[in-house]
Amino acid sequence: MAITQLPSTHEGERHMFPTGDIHRPRGFDPSIDVSGLVDMDGGYLDRAIFTDQRLYEQEQARVFATSWLFLGHVEQLQRPGDFFTTYMGEDPVIVTKDKSGRIRAFLNSCRHRGARVLRADYGQTRAFTCTYHGWSYDLEGRLISVPNEAAYPEGGWDRDQWGLLEVAQLDTVLGLIFATWNPQAPTLDEQLGDMKYYMEAFLDRDSEGTTIVGGITKWILKGNWKLAAEQFGTDWYHVNMSHASALMVLSPTGRGPKKEIAETPGRQYSDERGNGTGFPTHPKSRFDAQPVHEYYDYAALAGRLGQARVQGPMTTGHATVFPNFSYLPVNGSIRVWHPKGPDEIEIWAWTVLDKSMPEEVREAQRLYNLRTFGPSGIFEQDDGENWSEIQAISRGWQTNRVPLNYQMGIGSEREDGVYPGSTSTLYSDSAGRRFYRRWAELMNTPAWHETEQS
Ligand code: FES
Ligand SMILES: [Fe+2]
Repeated sequence: MAITQLPSTHEGERHMFPTGDIHRPRGFDPSIDVSGLVDMDGGYLDRAIFTDQRLYEQEQARVFATSWLFLGHVEQLQRPGDFFTTYMGEDPVIVTKDKSGRIRAFLNSCRHRGARVLRADYGQTRAFTCTYHGWSYDLEGRLISVPNEAAYPEGGWDRDQWGLLEVAQLDTVLGLIFATWNPQAPTLDEQLGDMKYYMEAFLDRDSEGTTIVGGITKWILKGNWKLAAEQFGTDWYHVNMSHASALMVLSPTGRGPKKEIAETPGRQYSDERGNGTGFPTHPKSRFDAQPVHEYYDYAALAGRLGQARVQGPMTTGHATVFPNFSYLPVNGSIRVWHPKGPDEIEIWAWTVLDKSMPEEVREAQRLYNLRTFGPSGIFEQDDGENWSEIQAISRGWQTNRVPLNYQMGIGSEREDGVYPGSTSTLYSDSAGRRFYRRWAELMNTPAWHETEQS
């Protein structure tokens, strides 16, 4: 049996496992050229990218397996042995703090017969013990206990080769944990680039940092994950139409925002790594929870982060870190769009807020986030319905013959002298175009796991 040696995750050891080739029928290897489906110079998109199963599998191998993916917030792990489970693409992972206090992430699949080693959402442990046959792994991922180990062949059994698979790189930024399977990926800092400036407007208001409240809310929605990630990256355009009734509820007059606010000035940032964020700059376009608004000392925040950030990305904006992590600064929502097949998303959402906030302000922010962007939130429901609606009709034959339009704001991107990187007008598909351009680039490039094997 052909085997391939992969770089070790533990010093002095090497994992060995069979190559994909010997298990998989020919034709499985991802090789669909998506150039004809994504034309971001012209602003056209073929909706097959939201429905096709083969593209979905290629996406797992070339987009999710190569990119930095969001795992959780550092506050979810306090002590060595604390753990939580999540997904990287469709791969289940364990995230834990090892004995030395280092955050690590492992594939949550037992090396014996592949069962999930951990089935709990979170907890505290000294070892990860698989409930199928009882193989047990330590916090560093090493296989430490095997029932009836003597039954394995003498000389042909090396326990050290059967540790949990570990991610290639893991890093934190502004309290957020990201990891990638890709040993060749640029650093997390490089992946974010100027995007970090915008993230700081949300996550670096407090010298104490941020924390999370209320656990993780999880729900399932019909729709392709890219519809959600794209919208959070690029789409302010839908706000006044899709959320008209919600805006009326929040508006003091009950009639929704005035024209000058509805046609809000603002900027939209995008970069070639697929990240995007948009934000209004009209002072009346803030929709903060009142107690939170009153809590903030905006002059002090301007001293810390600069006036441009207080007036722009700290307001009612939206953002996506490529590929599937998004956030809303004013609502305190961070979320990951877990793909579950081409037409389903499992949304995991957290409420993030400043550590220094007093209890009553924390509670106001938690409730505000749930009321607006919880699973039954007045804005979230509008968004989810749009994505499910697009997905529901996307198998029609005629429906698929016509391209979708991503032409808004083409050519409006520039260095504006205020906000770093390339920005366009707020009403623009600029970040959407760059999201899909990046997606297509990854889909058409053999991934590290394809080129590493000889
Ligand atoms: S599958 Fe985990 S011990 Fe057998
Ligand atoms: Fe929305």
